[in-house]
Amino acid sequence: MTSSPAVSEQQRQVEDELVRRVLASFENTPEPRMKEVMQALVRHLHAFLREVRLTEDEWQHAIDFLTAAGHITTDTRQEFILLSDVLGASMQTINISHEADGVATEATVVGPFFIDGTPEIPLGGDTSGGAAGEPCWVEGTVTDTDGKPVAGARLDVWEADEDGFYDVQYDQGRLAGRAHLHTDERGRYSFWGLTPTPYPIPHDGPVGALLEKTARSPLRASHLHFRATAPGLRTLVTHIFVEGDALLGSDAVFGVKDSLVKRFERQPAGTPAPGGRNLGGRSWSRVRFDIVLTPQAP
Ligand code: BEZ
Ligand code: FE
Repeated sequence: MTSSPAVSEQQRQVEDELVRRVLASFENTPEPRMKEVMQALVRHLHAFLREVRLTEDEWQHAIDFLTAAGHITTDTRQEFILLSDVLGASMQTINISHEADGVATEATVVGPFFIDGTPEIPLGGDTSGGAAGEPCWVEGTVTDTDGKPVAGARLDVWEADEDGFYDVQYDQGRLAGRAHLHTDERGRYSFWGLTPTPYPIPHDGPVGALLEKTARSPLRASHLHFRATAPGLRTLVTHIFVEGDALLGSDAVFGVKDSLVKRFERQPAGTPAPGGRNLGGRSWSRVRFDIVLTPQAP
């Protein structure tokens, strides 16, 4: 049934027999998809246990790890999603659900810091809400896969400040570095955000300990989150990343896709800013991100 390293024929039969019995226990699952998923899970789980010859101590360690993940999880801290993220399971599920077609904008992980109920800003408005960071002018269009502009598409945007923290990490109820806006009649949008900076995923819990033990960094490549929604089109959750960022190849949650890496053009202090904004002698950056949405599944 599976190739186990160096076990006797008698031992192999004992292990095979258990797999057969567990698979059979799901045989009468009424819902076909549930049956398929559970039986595949059993096959792969047992193959894994047998391949690594899991010890009882290691099994207990895994149970303790999952228990700790449960204990630290609250309404605002989801350690299991974090675990899925650092194992690449979140990104793989997204890859499977959003087949690459070379036209539609690619999706990536939502992360734990999206919240509904942000302020609406006008086109050209400011999302920073007082969050610290270098101003960044962001502009682009929203179109469908035929190239038709999408008027009135809603864009939610959110990002960390220059110290690598989201508003909600300071205190609940603070809103900064996030907002939503709508495209104009030609599908265009623009806003002032902040030039993205790198920051670590929450790493003070069991997932952080796992990263440390496996010599992995908790840092995410610098990014700016988007969620685009429009009637009749599939909601897209994505980010844009900063071209040249040293972390593009080692993002802790495997969220980077080449098509989402954008040139953030640095503008020296004193460069006139869009909308005649007075930036008080600070440098700023600008980036373009054109979003293509696919039709909603029938
Ligand atoms: C983030 O983008 O903020 C994020 C994504 C996945 C896990 C943790 C943080
Ligand atoms: Fe983020």
